[in-house]
Amino acid sequence: MSDFLAVRDVVKDYKSGDSMLRVLKGVSVEIAEGEIVSIVGPSGAGKSTLLHIMGFLDRPTSGEVVFRGEPLSRLDSSLQAVVRNAKFGFVFQLYHLLPELNAFENTLLPMMIRHGLGEWIVERGPARRRARQILDRIGMGPRAHHRPSQLSGGERQRVAIARALIGDPEVVFCDEPTGNLDAATSREIQQLILELSQETKKTFVIVTHDPSVAKIAQRQIRLVDGRIDG
Ligand SMILES: Nc1ncnc2c1ncn2[C@@H]1O[C@H](COP(=O)(O)OP(=O)(O)OP(=O)(O)O)[C@@H](O)[C@H]1O
Ligand SMILES: [Mg+2]
Repeated sequence: MSDFLAVRDVVKDYKSGDSMLRVLKGVSVEIAEGEIVSIVGPSGAGKSTLLHIMGFLDRPTSGEVVFRGEPLSRLDSSLQAVVRNAKFGFVFQLYHLLPELNAFENTLLPMMIRHGLGEWIVERGPARRRARQILDRIGMGPRAHHRPSQLSGGERQRVAIARALIGDPEVVFCDEPTGNLDAATSREIQQLILELSQETKKTFVIVTHDPSVAKIAQRQIRLVDGRIDG
């Protein structure tokens, strides 16, 4: 039994008006350190909801989420945010980059949040060097001073990947990382994710509709109507 990253008997309900929608109906998943896992399944199956719960972005209605043996239920919401910021990185379908910041500044953002204003004076130099290194690694060095509106979809997704990695997270969560890209760009981003997962040996959890993205993974988890299928 792995308690590196696990959800156990997780149920998630959403209120919609007077009625309640049960989106996750008792889901248990265990992920080992260094594993690359994809979560696949039809639209509305609860994949994003599960990813958000695993990544401490949201809490389950019942059931437990465990990271390195520590149950999420023991953390209050501020500690939950601290663990999330230090240990997890996120890549979303729609990039979620801040439009007023350029690629370099967007990449740095999680480090500014982690260190706060006081520490930032000390941490700034190393963080900026690391941002430059990561942007160079993913081929965005020459575009570091462009804002998201000046970048293509594939380039925006590269910046989102840089931002997910800058804090040296233990787990990288990706929700449809190629969902908004054309086929050729999607292949480039897949290749980049594969290379980065091999280079960094980090754990990757990737939600995807795309069978070729799912193939990057060592293991596929199929979610259908709020339950693990098979
Ligand atoms: N905040 C919310 N409030 C109410 N219902 C929600 C909320 N978030 C998600 N849902 C509902 O939960 C169900 C599962 O949503 P989820 O986004 O997890 O699906 P998904 O498998 O990621 O789908 P897709 O492949 O289309 O992204 C859907 O029916 C959705 O409408
Ligand atoms: Mg989704």
